[in-house]
Amino acid sequence: MVKPLRKAVLPVAGLGTRFLPATKATAKEMLPVVDKPLIQYAVEEARAAGIEQFCFVTGRGKAALVEHFDIAFELEQTLLERNKQAELDLLNDMKVEPGSIVTVRQQVPLGLGHAIWCARAFIGEDPFAILLPDDLVLADTPCLAQLAEAYQRTGGNVVAVTEVPPEQTNRYGILKIGKDDGRMVEVTGLVEKPAPKDAPSNLSIIGRYVLLPEVIDHLARMERGAGNEVQLTDGMARMIGNSPFHGLRYEGRRFDCGDKVGFLEAQIAFALKRDDMAPAVRDFLKTYIKDCI
Ligand code: G1P
Repeated sequence: MVKPLRKAVLPVAGLGTRFLPATKATAKEMLPVVDKPLIQYAVEEARAAGIEQFCFVTGRGKAALVEHFDIAFELEQTLLERNKQAELDLLNDMKVEPGSIVTVRQQVPLGLGHAIWCARAFIGEDPFAILLPDDLVLADTPCLAQLAEAYQRTGGNVVAVTEVPPEQTNRYGILKIGKDDGRMVEVTGLVEKPAPKDAPSNLSIIGRYVLLPEVIDHLARMERGAGNEVQLTDGMARMIGNSPFHGLRYEGRRFDCGDKVGFLEAQIAFALKRDDMAPAVRDFLKTYIKDCI
């Protein structure tokens, strides 16, 4: 019997230096794409995949992330008095079960692997998902739900993967590939941010994972990898051979919202999906692009 997937860890301790000055006094995960903060996209995607318990791995200055999911009594009361039903519905839709979000602190920035290890008490003996809120995926079936389905079938580790231009392998965790049916690939090795000449493929991991709890034992060794950080990729690599490990070429389009251009692309793509905005945005793009090129 495959253990049900109910837990998700969201590493949100990063300083967001690439978005300064916007992130000087605001968590980068609170930056909105259209009108919703990145953290809310991640939580909603997790809920759509059956996740019930969330652990935010936070750091200093991240209080707004927790606040965002709390009940805003005065705001709701004011909206009620003013008959703002649509706005109230927005707030109601995002309510999570009481007690379903916990936080742990990553006191020192020692890397993504260290951040996940900080959530070890929350993870316990259960399989868990990881969502990196910087990676936003526009998809008909939410990306984590696709991974959860693959996890149900294999009972093992599954990471979301996509091909990147060969010269960009040094930005991602890269797979060494075994059997490949076009959608699911067997992972035979993993390397964090290899130089193009050392990369075993150009299939890269994006910020969605379903992992078995054993990864924590490997991370606990605190071995430093690329960038002298404790890398999640290295901890995962140690599970290969002991439990099934697959990459899933997810359906959808990923936007790197940790990057300014990726963030801008996401704004446009998500606005074009909105009935209330798409016609105006399309008109703007048509005339603006004509004037620019
Ligand atoms: C992290 C992971 C990397 C993964 C990437 C996806 O890197 O370490 O393996 O490919 O997220 O976004 P970061 O973007 O934190 O440098």
